[in-house]
Amino acid sequence: MTADVLALLRCPRDGSRLQPRADGALVSECSGHVYPVIAGIYDFRLFDPPYMTREAENHLALAIDEAAKRMDHTALVRHFESELAPDAHDNQTIEKHIRHRMALRERAPRRLLDMLAMAGCAVPRDGIALDLGCGSGEAMATLLAQGARRVVGVDISLIELVLAKKLLQETGLDALLIAGCAEALPFAADSFDFVYSPDVIEHVSNQPDYLGEAHRVLRDQGVFLLNSPNRYSVVCPEPHVGIWFLTFLPRPLIDPVCRLAGKGRYVGKRLVSLPELRALVRDRFREVRIRSREANPQATSLPGRLFYAMRPYSEQAFAYIADQHVVLARK
Ligand SMILES: C[S@@+](CC[C@H](N)C(=O)[O-])C[C@H]1O[C@@H](n2cnc3c(N)ncnc32)[C@H](O)[C@@H]1O
Repeated sequence: MTADVLALLRCPRDGSRLQPRADGALVSECSGHVYPVIAGIYDFRLFDPPYMTREAENHLALAIDEAAKRMDHTALVRHFESELAPDAHDNQTIEKHIRHRMALRERAPRRLLDMLAMAGCAVPRDGIALDLGCGSGEAMATLLAQGARRVVGVDISLIELVLAKKLLQETGLDALLIAGCAEALPFAADSFDFVYSPDVIEHVSNQPDYLGEAHRVLRDQGVFLLNSPNRYSVVCPEPHVGIWFLTFLPRPLIDPVCRLAGKGRYVGKRLVSLPELRALVRDRFREVRIRSREANPQATSLPGRLFYAMRPYSEQAFAYIADQHVVLARK
């Protein structure tokens, strides 16, 4: 990875420059905080991911990284989901998770293109792009193919990043992966031309800080492109646990009802409505365009079919109950 991208790194606590230590760790010039390298990835995380402690995550990530030396990406995904993942209990769940991960490789490029088309924008040619909440890195190749000169992926999950590292190695892509919190990014202000963040806003622990940081690291006129599942969708069930109208409930009731329905805890997720999304984004960005996803002509559920049939009568009103919103926010 070339020096121009590494030069963008800053201490996420105090914004100061970083000095390399003999062991490869980076040290804040101002506060002396040390940011280690784990599994070949700089670790700038200020807090733990919601699903496990940082120690447990690091341990697992190192095991995946070790396994990555003796297998290809497809075998690694299979090995992770069947042998290492904490929820690898029954074959049916394991196979479902493997299928989901494999489908991401197909889906991620198409989704970026769809979102660009919906927002009416392009990846800035020769610009530096940030994939914020990059997960296992499936969109990064497409960001480069769409014209970005450099791409940087940030995620709070070291496990996802180690899988992303393998994918990038296998596809021969040169991109920087960083473990970090979207609410406190380890980059200088005005670093990026484009920030892409699909399916992330509902997972971060502090949505205003996430938007504030995306705004801070963008250059003037830079674009933040994200999508947000709608809290009040009548077109599809809650996308993570599959319960219809779950998020229509007052927020304190969502977790207990989810548990009562046998779907486990509802943590690390906070869907927002269209007015909430508008307020959050307009608070920070100069130009904001929000589009709701087109009604699906092939919808099979009754609400989906009704939504499609009635959409021409009131496009604006239906934006409030669509399943997804795509946001273009310009600094
Ligand atoms: C549903 S996944 C989406 C991943 C990827 N953007 C995609 O579209 O495939 C949400 C991602 O956000 C990451 N994430 C959640 N909270 C985060 C935070 N506070 N900072 C950085 N990443 C976070 C998760 O680890 C996860 O990889």
